[in-house]
Amino acid sequence: MKKCLALLVTVIVSLSIASFGFAAGLDKCEKCHKGDKAPDKMIAKAKIGTAADLMKALKEGPKKGMHKSLTEDDINGAAGALELK
Ligand code: HEC
Repeated sequence: MKKCLALLVTVIVSLSIASFGFAAGLDKCEKCHKGDKAPDKMIAKAKIGTAADLMKALKEGPKKGMHKSLTEDDINGAAGALELK
């Protein structure tokens, strides 16, 4: 019985860690992008319509220095949360 419980706890803990990873979404952007500069407003202003546009703007655009700490996963996660294709 105790073993069972331990297993259950392990499963629940690992699932919640996994969902944290997925929930990342816009968390990384929202450290800097709040209010008037929220990520959805930024992509509208920069006329970004696809995930590829977003990747290019953040990796090669004029503001790439501000986005150096973002990984491709972060950017793809944000593109998903912003519903870019
Ligand atoms: C370290 C702070 C920081 C983080 C983290 C950050 N940004 Fe930015 N970003 C900036 C700053 C500063 C600008 C320039 C703001 C301005 O032009 O008003 C900018 C500009 C942009 C632009 C406009 C780019 C252009 O070429 O005009 C977009 C789009 C953008 N960010 C999206 C994102 C997304 C999506 C994320 C998360 C994956 C993100 N940013 C994370 C600081 C950050």
